[in-house]
Amino acid sequence: MTDVLDDAGAPAAHRPPTVSTGGLSVIGYVDERSIHAVSGWIWLPDDPHAQPAFEVVLPMPDGSTQVLVRGVATNPTPHLQSQGVGNGKNGFSVVLPRLLTPEERDRVEVRADRSPWPLPMSPWLKTEYQPIGYVAMDIVNNCNIRCPFCVYDYKDTKNTKFMTDDTFETVLRIMPYTADGCFWLSCLHEPTMHPKLLEFIQRVPPELRRKLMFTSNITKRLPESFFDGLARSGMDHINISFESNQPDVYMKMRKGARYDIFKENRAKLVAAFAAAQAEGIKIPKLRYIMLAYKSNAEELPELAASLAEEPTTFAVQIRDTMPVPHIPKDFVESEFLDRPGWERLYQRVKPLLKGKVTLFLTPAYLEGKEDAVLLEDSEPVTAPPPPAAKLAPGIHQTVNLRIEWDGTLEVQGTDVHFQDPAWHLRLVKTKVQFLRDPLQFLTAL
Ligand SMILES: C[S@@+](CC[C@H](N)C(=O)[O-])C[C@H]1O[C@@H](n2cnc3c(N)ncnc32)[C@H](O)[C@@H]1O
Ligand code: SF4
Repeated sequence: MTDVLDDAGAPAAHRPPTVSTGGLSVIGYVDERSIHAVSGWIWLPDDPHAQPAFEVVLPMPDGSTQVLVRGVATNPTPHLQSQGVGNGKNGFSVVLPRLLTPEERDRVEVRADRSPWPLPMSPWLKTEYQPIGYVAMDIVNNCNIRCPFCVYDYKDTKNTKFMTDDTFETVLRIMPYTADGCFWLSCLHEPTMHPKLLEFIQRVPPELRRKLMFTSNITKRLPESFFDGLARSGMDHINISFESNQPDVYMKMRKGARYDIFKENRAKLVAAFAAAQAEGIKIPKLRYIMLAYKSNAEELPELAASLAEEPTTFAVQIRDTMPVPHIPKDFVESEFLDRPGWERLYQRVKPLLKGKVTLFLTPAYLEGKEDAVLLEDSEPVTAPPPPAAKLAPGIHQTVNLRIEWDGTLEVQGTDVHFQDPAWHLRLVKTKVQFLRDPLQFLTAL
């Protein structure tokens, strides 16, 4: 079975060595070699307009070789061509006829037609089959509080719905196919509302826990055992939303929350993470996310600096608000920072920006601030593209999944490099429970 599916190439800046054999020069890389697929690119500089044929072979222990797939490299590689490599159609991406064992995967080679030598492996060789950029899941449909700036409009949410054990069990089958930290247990809503949040995390096989992350307001009273469990969970990261240390400002932003409960929870969180850290346990990366407003702008630089000093803190991110239309007009008028307000905040935060603190700004405010970060590059609150750095160079197209509490699953197309304006394209809507074979479903997309 031969199937040329996708574009795959590496930047010319990392041009591989030419393999010269029997008068045939071959340039190329294998970018991905997983148990399920192989991709890369090939170019014959002596015959620059040829579309090179290739074989994916499995060398056998007895010295023979098994040809798994034959194909022709024709996938578009404009990014290579723009750097002077190839003719613009040198990519290949093939799905293997069967799933390999990890040991077989590590033996697989790609050879250009007529060449006895294998293509070199890319320095960024991807060995896990991860066709999903990120999975933005929610295990509930609600929040315990009502922040005025919230990206989600709760006006029609009357009851709280919880993901069932059975639905979570079916979701587990998708987890292997995304990168570390890219399987979210919360996106739009509040995960600690689910009484089984920690139990769900602990039900994930230990080798997959590094895929997990969630964002929380930690405003529901939570026991020490919960934070202790998180500290030892093996999750990749946890985001904590934190706008102010002043009770009145905090409770204005996190409407419905009690500052004293948040403070108590945060103390338990830091203590549990510090204790696990002292035992040599790899704790989840702890990131604080702060939205900047007129009420907290003065306080933010000092608060960010003090959080950054805590050994359990991995990062502190100060962000702008996504201006969704349902945010009350009076909140927008009284709280949104204007350009001078952002300028002042930037100047005050600037000394911190080379450490754990990052200021995320919208394009309108970014100009000339090389040490700040474009807001769209961050893990978003709705449906962001994944950090491109986590993907192997050359893998340009990926899909993202949105999963709701009841298993409703939406596949969204994306261009991780933002070259396609339809990056959020809704491709398929179904239920995760309906997927008999998630791998087959993903490969058919
Ligand atoms: C939608 S919330 C869900 C998780 C949790 N309830 C919380 O607030 O931490 C995820 C993150 O998005 C942030 N957020 C909420 N509304 C936003 C908006 N309009 N623009 C930018 N970020 C927003 C929150 O502060 C939080 O850090
Ligand atoms: S805590 Fe999070 S989900 Fe809840 S209202 Fe605030 S921003 Fe929205």
